[in-house]
Amino acid sequence: NWSMETFIDDAVKEIRQTVGDQKVLCALSGGVDSSVVAALIHQAIGDQLTCMFVDHGLLRKGEAESVVKTFGEKFKINLVKIDAKERFLSKLKGVTDPEQKRKIIGNEFIRVFEEESDKFGDHRFLGQGTLYTDIIESGTDTAHTIKSHHNVGGLPEEMKMKLIEPLNTLFKDEVRKVGEELNLPEEIVWRQPFPGPGLGIRVIGEVTEEKLEIVRESDAILREEIKKAGLDRDVWQYFTVLPDFRSVGVMGDVRTYAYTIGIRAVTSIDGMTADWARIPYDVLERISNRIINEVDDVNRVVYDITSKPPSTIEWE
Ligand code: XMP
Repeated sequence: NWSMETFIDDAVKEIRQTVGDQKVLCALSGGVDSSVVAALIHQAIGDQLTCMFVDHGLLRKGEAESVVKTFGEKFKINLVKIDAKERFLSKLKGVTDPEQKRKIIGNEFIRVFEEESDKFGDHRFLGQGTLYTDIIESGTDTAHTIKSHHNVGGLPEEMKMKLIEPLNTLFKDEVRKVGEELNLPEEIVWRQPFPGPGLGIRVIGEVTEEKLEIVRESDAILREEIKKAGLDRDVWQYFTVLPDFRSVGVMGDVRTYAYTIGIRAVTSIDGMTADWARIPYDVLERISNRIINEVDDVNRVVYDITSKPPSTIEWE
């Protein structure tokens, strides 16, 4: 791809010129933007880059492992993985309000990042995966404010690091092309959107380790079956949700009283509006059967057939 190669060459030159022999820190989330920016800066300055990956315990199944494998092992980037699971869970204990949960997760993320990055005091620059779209969309809509907040948009000033944002002239589809050009794996380049607060807003009500496990396992089954059915590029976003109630069921001859899993799958262009995805019944049936059989404490699966608006994509 000619134009993307040119972009990469130019960006690499510019990053080298800006950074000189200084060091750069990147917060890696495993998302497309932060992954591409890390790979690009690494291409430019190699070991002068350190990436920090905060595992808040609200990630999907296999996600932390995939980040370590791709960036630590394949790209051999200096990768610092912070296991902050206990911190986040204890802060979330007893909290049921969605916005409160978002705030706690966002703030805690910044706190962990600040504390840990203090340990590398010599980083002059902070690399960020800001896109052109992030700049033109002002911070007036709340979803974006929350998002940029969580994606460490609020960090640099306080941290006295200079920002480098090499993707800030690109749109999402161009970022994916750059990612492909830099040999990032498909699962990262084509990753579906995943909210900063992660599974924390997919466990409705109080977040506990047990409930996270239910939503994580059911979500992994859903993703596997959507991929197997060849629908992963057509459906824009798909995930499971764990509502905060139990209902009655029967398994064998035994009455059960267990959780319900909600399946959310939408088609969309930008997430601002969305339609529920018409997933074939046989695929839904396989997903339902597997969730019931493989995930403990679940006896019912429902499919969300509302569009946005009036619903939102996430349930919280
Ligand atoms: P909603 O639920 O508002 O979601 O229809 C629209 C898109 O935004 C994602 N989303 C978030 N992303 N932090 C994020 O980084 C958040 O707090 C957040 N809330 C929703 C959601 O997954 C969907 O892609």
